[in-house]
Amino acid sequence: MSAPDRLRRSIVIGCGGYLPARIVANAELESTMDTSDAWISERTGILQRHIAADGEKTSDLAIAASRSALAHAGVEAGEVDLIVLATTTPDETFPATAVRVQAALGCPGSIAFDVQAVCSGFVYALAIADNFLRVGQARTALVIGAETFSRILDWNDRGTAVLFGDGAGAVVLKAVDRVEGEASPRGILSTHLHADGRHHDALFADGGPSSTPGRVGVVRMNGREVFRHAVEKLSGVVEEALAANGFSPSDIDWLVPHQANRRIIDGMARKLGLAPERVVVTVDRHANTSAASIPLALWEATKSDRIAPGDIVLLEAIGGGLTWGACVIRW
Ligand code: ACO
Repeated sequence: MSAPDRLRRSIVIGCGGYLPARIVANAELESTMDTSDAWISERTGILQRHIAADGEKTSDLAIAASRSALAHAGVEAGEVDLIVLATTTPDETFPATAVRVQAALGCPGSIAFDVQAVCSGFVYALAIADNFLRVGQARTALVIGAETFSRILDWNDRGTAVLFGDGAGAVVLKAVDRVEGEASPRGILSTHLHADGRHHDALFADGGPSSTPGRVGVVRMNGREVFRHAVEKLSGVVEEALAANGFSPSDIDWLVPHQANRRIIDGMARKLGLAPERVVVTVDRHANTSAASIPLALWEATKSDRIAPGDIVLLEAIGGGLTWGACVIRW
Protein backbone atom coordinates (compact mmCIF):
# COMPACT_ATOMS: atom_id res chain seq x y z
CA MET A 1 0.00 0.00 0.00
CA SER A 2 1.35 3.39 -0.94
CA ALA A 3 1.21 6.43 1.34
CA PRO A 4 -2.05 8.38 1.53
CA ASP A 5 -2.29 10.98 -1.20
CA ARG A 6 -5.06 13.50 -0.66
CA LEU A 7 -4.43 14.94 -4.11
CA ARG A 8 -5.89 11.82 -5.67
CA ARG A 9 -9.59 11.59 -6.51
CA SER A 10 -11.99 8.94 -7.77
CA ILE A 11 -13.93 9.75 -10.90
CA VAL A 12 -16.92 7.84 -12.23
CA ILE A 13 -16.05 6.64 -15.73
CA GLY A 14 -18.92 4.26 -16.40
CA CYS A 15 -22.35 3.11 -15.23
CA GLY A 16 -24.28 -0.07 -15.91
CA GLY A 17 -27.30 -1.97 -14.81
CA TYR A 18 -29.39 -5.07 -15.16
CA LEU A 19 -33.04 -5.78 -14.43
CA PRO A 20 -34.57 -9.26 -14.47
CA ALA A 21 -36.91 -9.87 -17.41
CA ARG A 22 -40.05 -10.59 -15.39
CA ILE A 23 -42.11 -7.50 -14.59
CA VAL A 24 -44.79 -7.75 -11.92
CA ALA A 25 -47.31 -4.90 -12.09
CA ASN A 26 -49.36 -3.87 -9.05
CA ALA A 27 -52.44 -5.40 -10.67
CA GLU A 28 -50.80 -8.84 -10.53
CA LEU A 29 -50.31 -8.48 -6.77
CA GLU A 30 -54.03 -7.74 -6.38
CA SER A 31 -54.71 -11.34 -7.32
CA THR A 32 -52.41 -12.83 -4.64
CA MET A 33 -52.85 -10.50 -1.64
CA ASP A 34 -55.29 -8.06 -0.11
CA THR A 35 -53.98 -4.93 -1.81
CA SER A 36 -54.79 -2.63 -4.73
CA ASP A 37 -52.96 -0.79 -7.46
CA ALA A 38 -54.49 2.44 -6.12
CA TRP A 39 -53.16 1.89 -2.56
CA ILE A 40 -49.65 0.99 -3.73
CA SER A 41 -49.30 3.78 -6.30
CA GLU A 42 -50.82 6.51 -4.09
CA ARG A 43 -48.78 5.66 -0.97
CA THR A 44 -45.48 4.78 -2.66
CA GLY A 45 -45.44 5.82 -6.33
CA ILE A 46 -44.62 2.21 -7.27
CA LEU A 47 -46.34 0.85 -10.39
CA GLN A 48 -44.32 -2.30 -11.02
CA ARG A 49 -41.15 -4.19 -10.03
CA HIS A 50 -38.78 -6.67 -11.68
CA ILE A 51 -38.52 -10.11 -10.06
CA ALA A 52 -35.58 -12.48 -10.59
CA ALA A 53 -36.33 -15.80 -12.28
CA ASP A 54 -36.06 -19.06 -10.35
CA GLY A 55 -32.37 -19.84 -10.06
CA GLU A 56 -31.31 -16.31 -11.03
CA LYS A 57 -29.01 -15.23 -8.22
CA THR A 58 -27.75 -11.89 -6.93
CA SER A 59 -24.35 -12.66 -8.48
CA ASP A 60 -25.98 -13.19 -11.90
CA LEU A 61 -27.57 -9.74 -11.69
CA ALA A 62 -24.30 -8.22 -10.42
CA ILE A 63 -22.23 -9.81 -13.20
CA ALA A 64 -24.59 -8.50 -15.89
CA ALA A 65 -24.59 -4.99 -14.38
CA SER A 66 -20.79 -5.05 -14.04
CA ARG A 67 -20.28 -6.08 -17.67
CA SER A 68 -22.55 -3.25 -18.75
CA ALA A 69 -20.64 -0.73 -16.58
CA LEU A 70 -17.23 -1.92 -17.82
CA ALA A 71 -18.39 -1.66 -21.45
CA HIS A 72 -19.71 1.86 -20.82
CA ALA A 73 -16.39 2.82 -19.20
CA GLY A 74 -14.32 1.17 -21.95
CA VAL A 75 -12.40 -0.72 -19.25
CA GLU A 76 -11.22 -4.36 -19.51
CA ALA A 77 -12.10 -6.58 -16.54
CA GLY A 78 -8.39 -7.29 -16.07
CA GLU A 79 -7.82 -3.62 -15.16
CA VAL A 80 -10.16 -3.83 -12.13
CA ASP A 81 -8.19 -4.18 -8.91
CA LEU A 82 -11.05 -3.60 -6.43
CA ILE A 83 -14.62 -4.92 -6.33
CA VAL A 84 -16.97 -3.69 -3.60
CA LEU A 85 -20.43 -5.21 -3.78
CA ALA A 86 -23.26 -3.89 -1.63
CA THR A 87 -25.97 -6.45 -0.95
CA THR A 88 -28.35 -7.68 1.72
CA THR A 89 -29.23 -10.76 -0.32
CA PRO A 90 -25.91 -12.53 -0.99
CA ASP A 91 -25.86 -15.81 -2.93
CA GLU A 92 -24.57 -17.63 0.14
CA THR A 93 -23.83 -16.94 3.81
CA PHE A 94 -20.21 -17.04 2.70
CA PRO A 95 -18.08 -16.33 0.76
CA ALA A 96 -18.85 -12.82 -0.43
CA THR A 97 -20.90 -12.55 -3.61
CA ALA A 98 -18.16 -10.19 -4.84
CA VAL A 99 -15.77 -13.13 -5.34
CA ARG A 100 -18.27 -14.87 -7.63
CA VAL A 101 -18.47 -11.66 -9.66
CA GLN A 102 -14.68 -11.43 -9.71
CA ALA A 103 -14.31 -15.02 -10.98
CA ALA A 104 -16.95 -14.53 -13.69
CA LEU A 105 -15.47 -11.24 -14.91
CA GLY A 106 -11.91 -12.55 -14.88
CA CYS A 107 -9.91 -10.27 -12.61
CA PRO A 108 -8.25 -12.76 -10.23
CA GLY A 109 -6.12 -11.30 -7.48
CA SER A 110 -8.12 -8.10 -7.20
CA ILE A 111 -9.56 -7.12 -3.80
CA ALA A 112 -13.19 -8.31 -3.60
CA PHE A 113 -15.65 -8.13 -0.72
CA ASP A 114 -19.27 -7.40 0.16
CA VAL A 115 -20.70 -4.53 2.17
CA GLN A 116 -23.91 -4.88 4.18
CA ALA A 117 -25.69 -1.60 4.87
CA VAL A 118 -29.06 -2.56 3.36
CA CYS A 119 -30.59 0.31 1.35
CA SER A 120 -27.62 2.58 2.17
CA GLY A 121 -25.26 -0.12 0.91
CA PHE A 122 -24.30 1.56 -2.34
CA VAL A 123 -23.40 4.85 -0.67
CA TYR A 124 -21.33 2.92 1.89
CA ALA A 125 -19.64 0.89 -0.89
CA LEU A 126 -18.88 4.02 -2.90
CA ALA A 127 -17.33 5.72 0.15
CA ILE A 128 -15.18 2.67 0.89
CA ALA A 129 -14.00 2.35 -2.72
CA ASP A 130 -13.28 6.10 -2.87
CA ASN A 131 -11.09 5.79 0.22
CA PHE A 132 -9.20 2.81 -1.26
CA LEU A 133 -8.54 4.80 -4.44
CA ARG A 134 -7.55 7.99 -2.66
CA VAL A 135 -4.94 6.29 -0.52
CA GLY A 136 -3.53 4.44 -3.52
CA GLN A 137 -4.52 0.89 -2.55
CA ALA A 138 -6.37 0.46 -5.86
CA ARG A 139 -6.62 2.31 -9.18
CA THR A 140 -9.76 0.96 -10.84
CA ALA A 141 -12.79 -0.04 -8.80
CA LEU A 142 -16.06 -1.69 -9.64
CA VAL A 143 -18.73 -0.63 -7.14
CA ILE A 144 -21.90 -2.70 -7.35
CA GLY A 145 -25.31 -2.70 -5.70
CA ALA A 146 -27.15 -5.96 -6.35
CA GLU A 147 -30.23 -7.48 -4.75
CA THR A 148 -32.75 -10.29 -5.04
CA PHE A 149 -34.92 -8.80 -2.30
CA SER A 150 -37.91 -10.84 -3.49
CA ARG A 151 -36.24 -13.86 -1.81
CA ILE A 152 -36.46 -12.34 1.68
CA LEU A 153 -39.99 -10.98 1.49
CA ASP A 154 -42.93 -12.41 3.39
CA TRP A 155 -45.39 -12.60 0.50
CA ASN A 156 -48.21 -12.75 3.06
CA ASP A 157 -47.24 -9.35 4.49
CA ARG A 158 -48.82 -6.73 2.24
CA GLY A 159 -47.12 -3.98 4.26
CA THR A 160 -43.69 -4.97 2.89
CA ALA A 161 -44.15 -7.35 -0.07
CA VAL A 162 -45.44 -4.65 -2.42
CA LEU A 163 -42.49 -2.30 -1.83
CA PHE A 164 -39.45 -4.13 -3.17
CA GLY A 165 -37.97 -5.38 -6.44
CA ASP A 166 -34.83 -7.09 -7.77
CA GLY A 167 -32.00 -5.59 -9.84
CA ALA A 168 -28.36 -4.55 -9.97
CA GLY A 169 -26.41 -1.45 -10.88
CA ALA A 170 -22.69 -0.76 -11.01
CA VAL A 171 -20.23 2.07 -11.52
CA VAL A 172 -16.56 2.04 -12.49
CA LEU A 173 -14.33 4.40 -10.51
CA LYS A 174 -10.86 5.42 -11.60
CA ALA A 175 -8.22 7.11 -9.46
CA VAL A 176 -6.86 10.27 -11.05
CA ASP A 177 -4.10 12.50 -9.77
CA ARG A 178 -5.32 16.01 -9.30
CA VAL A 179 -3.54 18.77 -11.12
CA GLU A 180 -2.46 21.35 -8.54
CA GLY A 181 -4.56 24.53 -8.83
CA GLU A 182 -7.21 22.86 -11.02
CA ALA A 183 -10.36 24.98 -10.60
CA SER A 184 -13.20 22.44 -10.56
CA PRO A 185 -11.77 18.94 -10.49
CA ARG A 186 -14.13 16.08 -11.38
CA GLY A 187 -14.72 13.22 -9.00
CA ILE A 188 -16.20 12.25 -5.67
CA LEU A 189 -16.04 15.43 -3.60
CA SER A 190 -17.19 14.03 -0.26
CA THR A 191 -18.95 11.09 1.35
CA HIS A 192 -20.93 11.10 4.61
CA LEU A 193 -21.93 7.90 6.43
CA HIS A 194 -23.94 7.31 9.60
CA ALA A 195 -25.60 4.50 11.55
CA ASP A 196 -27.74 4.24 14.66
CA GLY A 197 -28.28 0.66 15.79
CA ARG A 198 -30.79 1.73 18.42
CA HIS A 199 -33.35 1.73 15.60
CA HIS A 200 -32.67 -1.88 14.59
CA ASP A 201 -36.27 -2.92 15.14
CA ALA A 202 -37.67 -0.41 12.65
CA LEU A 203 -36.46 -2.57 9.74
CA PHE A 204 -34.74 -5.96 9.85
CA ALA A 205 -34.88 -9.56 8.63
CA ASP A 206 -36.04 -11.93 11.37
CA GLY A 207 -33.39 -14.60 10.77
CA GLY A 208 -29.75 -15.28 9.96
CA PRO A 209 -26.91 -17.75 10.50
CA SER A 210 -26.16 -16.82 14.10
CA SER A 211 -29.63 -16.06 15.47
CA THR A 212 -31.74 -18.68 13.67
CA PRO A 213 -29.44 -21.34 12.17
CA GLY A 214 -30.82 -22.66 8.91
CA ARG A 215 -33.29 -19.81 8.39
CA VAL A 216 -32.45 -16.54 6.64
CA GLY A 217 -35.60 -14.73 7.74
CA VAL A 218 -37.89 -12.24 6.02
CA VAL A 219 -38.24 -8.45 6.08
CA ARG A 220 -40.01 -6.94 9.08
CA MET A 221 -40.71 -3.22 9.05
CA ASN A 222 -42.46 -0.49 10.96
CA GLY A 223 -43.21 1.63 7.88
CA ARG A 224 -44.31 4.76 9.72
CA GLU A 225 -41.22 4.80 11.90
CA VAL A 226 -38.92 4.30 8.90
CA PHE A 227 -40.72 7.12 7.08
CA ARG A 228 -40.25 9.50 10.02
CA HIS A 229 -36.54 8.68 10.35
CA ALA A 230 -36.05 8.92 6.57
CA VAL A 231 -37.23 12.51 6.36
CA GLU A 232 -35.24 13.63 9.41
CA LYS A 233 -31.98 11.76 8.77
CA LEU A 234 -31.82 12.41 5.03
CA SER A 235 -32.37 16.13 5.59
CA GLY A 236 -29.54 16.14 8.14
CA VAL A 237 -27.02 14.28 6.01
CA VAL A 238 -27.83 16.37 2.93
CA GLU A 239 -27.22 19.56 4.92
CA GLU A 240 -23.93 18.06 6.14
CA ALA A 241 -22.88 17.15 2.57
CA LEU A 242 -23.71 20.61 1.21
CA ALA A 243 -21.90 22.36 4.06
CA ALA A 244 -18.78 20.19 3.62
CA ASN A 245 -18.46 21.48 0.06
CA GLY A 246 -19.57 25.05 0.67
CA PHE A 247 -22.59 24.40 -1.56
CA SER A 248 -26.13 25.66 -1.32
CA PRO A 249 -29.06 23.62 -2.69
CA SER A 250 -29.00 25.68 -5.90
CA ASP A 251 -25.54 24.25 -6.69
CA ILE A 252 -27.02 20.76 -7.07
CA ASP A 253 -27.68 19.78 -10.69
CA TRP A 254 -29.03 16.29 -9.97
CA LEU A 255 -30.49 14.55 -6.96
CA VAL A 256 -30.15 10.78 -7.29
CA PRO A 257 -31.86 9.45 -4.16
CA HIS A 258 -32.36 5.92 -2.92
CA GLN A 259 -35.66 4.86 -4.45
CA ALA A 260 -37.86 3.71 -1.54
CA ASN A 261 -40.94 5.82 -1.80
CA ARG A 262 -42.03 8.65 -4.10
CA ARG A 263 -43.26 10.71 -1.14
CA ILE A 264 -39.83 10.63 0.54
CA ILE A 265 -38.12 11.55 -2.76
CA ASP A 266 -40.53 14.44 -3.43
CA GLY A 267 -40.12 15.67 0.14
CA MET A 268 -36.34 15.85 -0.23
CA ALA A 269 -36.61 17.59 -3.62
CA ARG A 270 -38.98 20.19 -2.14
CA LYS A 271 -36.62 20.76 0.79
CA LEU A 272 -33.75 21.40 -1.63
CA GLY A 273 -35.93 23.53 -3.90
CA LEU A 274 -35.06 21.27 -6.83
CA ALA A 275 -37.34 21.17 -9.87
CA PRO A 276 -38.80 17.68 -10.44
CA GLU A 277 -36.87 17.31 -13.70
CA ARG A 278 -33.62 17.55 -11.70
CA VAL A 279 -34.49 14.46 -9.65
CA VAL A 280 -33.82 11.00 -11.07
CA VAL A 281 -36.79 8.77 -10.28
CA THR A 282 -37.06 5.05 -11.01
CA VAL A 283 -39.16 3.88 -8.05
CA ASP A 284 -42.28 3.81 -10.25
CA ARG A 285 -40.77 1.09 -12.49
CA HIS A 286 -38.17 -0.62 -10.26
CA ALA A 287 -39.79 -0.30 -6.78
CA ASN A 288 -37.24 -0.38 -3.95
CA THR A 289 -34.23 -2.43 -5.06
CA SER A 290 -32.32 -1.61 -1.84
CA ALA A 291 -28.56 -1.27 -2.54
CA ALA A 292 -29.17 -1.45 -6.29
CA SER A 293 -31.50 1.53 -6.52
CA ILE A 294 -28.96 4.37 -6.75
CA PRO A 295 -26.62 2.73 -9.31
CA LEU A 296 -29.67 1.71 -11.37
CA ALA A 297 -30.87 5.33 -11.29
CA LEU A 298 -27.38 6.54 -12.29
CA TRP A 299 -27.40 4.03 -15.15
CA GLU A 300 -30.75 5.34 -16.39
CA ALA A 301 -29.69 8.97 -16.09
CA THR A 302 -26.41 8.46 -17.93
CA LYS A 303 -28.02 6.30 -20.66
CA SER A 304 -30.42 9.14 -21.41
CA ASP A 305 -27.56 11.71 -21.30
CA ARG A 306 -29.22 13.60 -18.48
CA ILE A 307 -26.15 13.81 -16.22
CA ALA A 308 -23.27 15.54 -18.04
CA PRO A 309 -19.57 15.93 -17.15
CA GLY A 310 -19.11 18.75 -14.63
CA ASP A 311 -22.62 18.40 -13.14
CA ILE A 312 -22.90 18.32 -9.37
CA VAL A 313 -24.69 15.11 -8.37
CA LEU A 314 -26.02 14.44 -4.87
CA LEU A 315 -26.70 10.85 -3.77
CA GLU A 316 -28.57 10.07 -0.53
CA ALA A 317 -29.92 6.91 1.08
CA ILE A 318 -31.31 5.46 4.28
CA GLY A 319 -31.91 1.84 5.16
CA GLY A 320 -32.03 -0.85 7.80
CA GLY A 321 -29.67 -0.49 10.72
CA LEU A 322 -30.59 2.25 10.65
CA THR A 323 -27.83 3.36 8.27
CA TRP A 324 -27.81 6.49 6.14
CA GLY A 325 -25.45 8.52 4.03
CA ALA A 326 -24.83 10.95 1.19
CA CYS A 327 -22.23 11.54 -1.47
CA VAL A 328 -21.43 14.59 -3.61
CA ILE A 329 -19.85 14.02 -7.01
CA ARG A 330 -18.69 16.44 -9.69
CA TRP A 331 -19.51 14.20 -12.65
N1 ACO B 1 -52.31 -2.60 0.41
C1 ACO B 1 -53.42 -2.16 1.01
N2 ACO B 1 -53.44 -1.73 2.29
C2 ACO B 1 -52.28 -1.77 2.96
C3 ACO B 1 -51.09 -2.23 2.39
C4 ACO B 1 -51.13 -2.66 1.07
N3 ACO B 1 -50.04 -3.13 0.40
N4 ACO B 1 -50.10 -2.15 3.31
C5 ACO B 1 -50.66 -1.64 4.43
N5 ACO B 1 -51.97 -1.41 4.22
C6 ACO B 1 -52.95 -0.87 5.15
C7 ACO B 1 -52.58 -1.10 6.59
O1 ACO B 1 -52.93 -2.39 7.01
C8 ACO B 1 -53.36 -0.03 7.27
O2 ACO B 1 -54.68 -0.46 7.38
P1 ACO B 1 -55.54 -0.12 8.69
O3 ACO B 1 -55.62 1.39 8.73
O4 ACO B 1 -56.83 -0.78 8.41
O5 ACO B 1 -54.77 -0.71 9.83
C9 ACO B 1 -53.34 1.12 6.27
O6 ACO B 1 -53.01 0.52 5.00
C10 ACO B 1 -52.32 2.18 6.61
O7 ACO B 1 -51.09 1.53 6.90
P2 ACO B 1 -49.79 2.33 7.24
O8 ACO B 1 -48.65 1.39 7.39
O9 ACO B 1 -50.08 3.26 8.35
O10 ACO B 1 -49.63 3.16 5.89
P3 ACO B 1 -48.67 4.34 5.56
O11 ACO B 1 -49.42 5.48 5.04
O12 ACO B 1 -47.67 4.58 6.65
O13 ACO B 1 -47.88 3.75 4.31
C11 ACO B 1 -45.76 2.80 3.80
C12 ACO B 1 -47.11 2.58 4.46
C13 ACO B 1 -45.96 3.00 2.32
C14 ACO B 1 -44.90 1.54 4.02
C15 ACO B 1 -45.09 4.03 4.42
O14 ACO B 1 -45.11 3.94 5.81
C16 ACO B 1 -43.70 4.19 3.97
O15 ACO B 1 -43.44 4.47 2.83
N6 ACO B 1 -42.73 4.07 4.89
C17 ACO B 1 -41.35 4.14 4.54
C18 ACO B 1 -40.87 2.78 4.55
C19 ACO B 1 -40.07 2.42 3.37
O16 ACO B 1 -39.99 3.08 2.37
N7 ACO B 1 -39.44 1.26 3.53
C20 ACO B 1 -38.65 0.71 2.51
C21 ACO B 1 -37.44 0.13 3.10
S1 ACO B 1 -36.52 1.30 3.99
C22 ACO B 1 -35.91 2.30 2.89
O17 ACO B 1 -35.60 1.88 1.81
C23 ACO B 1 -35.79 3.66 3.27
